[in-house]
Amino acid sequence: TPRVFSGIKPSGGLTLGNYLGAIKRFVDWQEAGTHETIYCVVDLHAITVWQDPAELHAATREVAAGFIASGIDPTKSVLFNQSQVAAHAQLAWIFNCVARVGWMNRMTQFKDKAGSNAEKASLGLYAYPALMAADILVYHATHVPVGEDQKQHVELTRDIAQKFNHDYKVDFFPETEPVIEGPATRVMNLRDGTKKMSKSGESDMERINMTDDADTIAKKFKKAKTDPEPLPETLEGLEGRPEAKNLVDIYAGLSGMTDEQVIAEYSGAGWGRFKPALADLAVEKLAPISTEMARLMADPAEIDRILAHGAEQARVIANPILKRTYEIVGLVGS
Ligand code: TYM
Repeated sequence: TPRVFSGIKPSGGLTLGNYLGAIKRFVDWQEAGTHETIYCVVDLHAITVWQDPAELHAATREVAAGFIASGIDPTKSVLFNQSQVAAHAQLAWIFNCVARVGWMNRMTQFKDKAGSNAEKASLGLYAYPALMAADILVYHATHVPVGEDQKQHVELTRDIAQKFNHDYKVDFFPETEPVIEGPATRVMNLRDGTKKMSKSGESDMERINMTDDADTIAKKFKKAKTDPEPLPETLEGLEGRPEAKNLVDIYAGLSGMTDEQVIAEYSGAGWGRFKPALADLAVEKLAPISTEMARLMADPAEIDRILAHGAEQARVIANPILKRTYEIVGLVGS
């Protein structure tokens, strides 16, 4: 069976962006049953920027709890944290030797994250996309559901696979495609519709955290930035209105409707009507998840057990692919 792989960094808690852009799609793939689904809490990616060890530990469990609470079923999907499966880091080294410095220089996320002082960024942050390629290709995964911001990295994965196959004259690593689907592939900051919603934004009011309670969710949507115009009557009317478009996208993502359907339902509505409806919908969808996350996090040993079991399953798939890679490369002892 073909495989789906995706991952989320435990660098802080989960946001509504992670949920709508990624986790919800992961559940869809799991339920479709057409692919083997492998989902990973990518702790080795998190430490490319400084993480307090105790916080990393807690965040790894929180992301795992978020997966499970959202519907990832460890009996249907393989769920584990990256560092428990050594093959990721091992294949990443090989890919560090395949990928070119010039390719890494084109990665926009490195430029964003390193900021104006790239000299001071960790070497790991620079090599990050090669580890990501290893995450995917160590399972020979072909489909990678992600939000829009990860598109360039998944495309680089394809370049690395092609160069490996070409250099060693093999047809070993498959072509990988990013799967960027749904109405909310790029959820924006609630205070500035031109910036992505992220775990690390300055103000908590910019984002919805998956652990926010009902009052906080309602307050954040109420205070979300909008323009003075009511909702348009057609989809085209959202053009040039990033904040309005974002709230419509979020409503669509949470409800399972399309943007068109949301516009049809709220055509001409003022924000005084739309925002409370959006807040109610968000609370209805997210509150059960955050309750379940809290329940799961109260028993960390159980989460650790699930991750250890997933890691065992992951190794069974990854180790033979790594072994074959070592043979192809010509490493003695494999
Ligand atoms: P990360 O941890 O930043 O985000 C995890 C997933 O959430 C999506 N996402 C969003 N989607 C829509 N709107 C947003 N505002 C938003 N913010 C985040 C991301 O696109 C991503 O799908 N490098 C990856 C993790 C990774 C990975 C992989 C992904 C490591 N190895 C292999 C796929 C396959 C990252 O930092 O995602």
